[in-house]
Amino acid sequence: MFRMDGKTVIVTGGAGYLLYPACRGFAELGARVVVGDFNQERLDEAVRELGDDFSPDRILGVNFDAADEASCTALVEAAVERFGKIDVLVAGTTGSAGKEVGDIAADEFDRANRMNITSPFFLARSAAGHMPEQGGSIIFISSMYGLVAPNPSDYYPLGLTPNPVDYGAGKAGLCQLGRYLAAYWGSRNIRVNVVAPGAFPWKSGHGNNDQFIDVLGRKSMLGRIGRREEIGGAVVFLATDEASFITGQVLSVDGGVTSW
Ligand SMILES: NC(=O)c1ccc[n+]([C@@H]2O[C@H](COP(=O)([O-])OP(=O)(O)OC[C@H]3O[C@@H](n4cnc5c(N)ncnc54)[C@H](O)[C@@H]3O)[C@@H](O)[C@H]2O)c1
Repeated sequence: MFRMDGKTVIVTGGAGYLLYPACRGFAELGARVVVGDFNQERLDEAVRELGDDFSPDRILGVNFDAADEASCTALVEAAVERFGKIDVLVAGTTGSAGKEVGDIAADEFDRANRMNITSPFFLARSAAGHMPEQGGSIIFISSMYGLVAPNPSDYYPLGLTPNPVDYGAGKAGLCQLGRYLAAYWGSRNIRVNVVAPGAFPWKSGHGNNDQFIDVLGRKSMLGRIGRREEIGGAVVFLATDEASFITGQVLSVDGGVTSW
């Protein structure tokens, strides 16, 4: 069970905090891993580490811009050129202007939609075009704030801006995109699922704010925020043959935040 030998997996945003562990998980199961990211430094580090710990022949790093359709197509084509086909796409990049409701401009809202909805759509369509007859798996990375609204009273007392509206609206759209494409490509045995992480703040962001971490932790049934390595397993599982009858789903990995 749980082997992925001979499978080609693309992970966009794969050099980042939450999805690098998923890249490691795929590599551990024997997959060929294409890491797509536009931060060259993080990309180089991810590819070097994966190459050192697994076979470098199975790892490819591609610098691409998820906001640009041609760049998304080029990423998919680079993966096909190197490995011949695509079995799995994990679309993990995101965008937001990070502004209050009263401050966000229309073009900023459009840019966030482009990153949160349009880009995963083009990536998925492009990748699906290179999936074998047996099918494949597509996983979008949404958020608990694509399922429930952030409570402003968690933020304002601490001097913070609530999780932004363009982010949450886009992540909600991404959940529906997943269901739509799951239905559309079901006859080709291409499964499409969504992972909705809860609170996984990094040390460089709100992760340094102990009071906020405490507020976030208390929202979870487990009384804590998520650990970085707790997303990768869910993502990898959905991509494996062990999840072969799971499609059109949103899997919350949030310590129960959205269930009470
Ligand atoms: N960390 C959390 O608490 C949390 C919670 C819910 C959902 N998520 C979602 O998880 C996913 C990963 O988040 P993360 O916390 O690992 O963030 P991260 O910033 O560490 O990782 C994102 C990666 O995407 C890359 N990237 C950004 N814009 C890009 C672009 N235009 N083209 C190509 N690459 C680009 C970055 O270089 C980075 O390596 C996102 O979709 C995010 O919305 C995160």
